[in-house]
Amino acid sequence: MQKTVLITGGNSGIGKATAKQLAQQSWNVIIAARSSDKAQQAIHDIKKDVPNATISHLQVDLSNLESVRQLADKVKSQYASLDALINNAGGLWKERSETPTGIEYSFAANHLGHFLLTNLLLEPLRNAKAARIINVSSEIHRIAKFDLDQYVRGSAYNSWKNYGFNKLCNVLFTYQLARQLKDTSITVNALHPGVIASNFGQDIGWMRFVSPLMKLFLGSTDKGARPSVSLATRIDPPNSSYFKEMKLVQSSPESYNETHQNSLWEYSAQLCQL
Ligand SMILES: NC(=O)c1ccc[n+]([C@@H]2O[C@H](COP(=O)([O-])OP(=O)(O)OC[C@H]3O[C@@H](n4cnc5c(N)ncnc54)[C@H](OP(=O)(O)O)[C@@H]3O)[C@@H](O)[C@H]2O)c1
Repeated sequence: MQKTVLITGGNSGIGKATAKQLAQQSWNVIIAARSSDKAQQAIHDIKKDVPNATISHLQVDLSNLESVRQLADKVKSQYASLDALINNAGGLWKERSETPTGIEYSFAANHLGHFLLTNLLLEPLRNAKAARIINVSSEIHRIAKFDLDQYVRGSAYNSWKNYGFNKLCNVLFTYQLARQLKDTSITVNALHPGVIASNFGQDIGWMRFVSPLMKLFLGSTDKGARPSVSLATRIDPPNSSYFKEMKLVQSSPESYNETHQNSLWEYSAQLCQL
């Protein structure tokens, strides 16, 4: 039976390459993206390489919790079961901003939207035989200390430090969720995809300027997709693990702190009114 995967940010970079590789393996791929035009362009591009791809777009802005709820409702109305959820979307923003409901934007887009989406999709994930939840984090999580007051509730902002904190949240969330789902057939893992030439960081002026040159020295998006594709497709995936590209490694000591994992969960659940 054909398997179904939902990939956030599947219109660009690593997410788009992940969508293509899973379509090549005959998965039914749902690209969750905020721009319909970009998603349709991605589908068009993927179909050039994989003419028989079954691939569609559902709209979501992960920084907007109402939009996340609408996406989850659409998925549940169309699919009784979901075999994989790849929480891939993410970004680095130059200036601090807030969502319309007053949440620090980069935290909402990098962590909170995925937190809510995953919780709302647990029912179709449970209905699949052995579903996989894959959270795309980054090695930059290693520089971060867990501090909600500094990075979320406070008004100070530093693009890279906040990004590192958000990517630490991806790993903390992975371990807490894996613990909660330990008696189910669902596995939850996090990964660093590599240093990859994508559209990442375009909001930061100097990155736009150097990126064409840098791209020559970075990994391809196809390479960056491999860890996610492997975790989605391997027969016996690990659980509650962190992969640096294709290698299982320890994540930062901070990420294993269960008090931090609990605090993040409680604060996120409160913001999402779960
Ligand atoms: N590239 C690297 O070297 C690298 C290294 C470590 C980790 N990562 C992680 O890899 C993941 C994929 O990044 P990438 O390198 O492929 O970058 P990318 O090409 O910029 O792709 C990021 C994707 O996230 C989407 N996105 C951002 N904010 C969103 C929002 N509010 N709602 C919905 N979608 C949103 C973007 O949508 P739009 O196209 O509409 O902007 C885009 O599809 C990210 O989580 C990133 O942190 C990347």
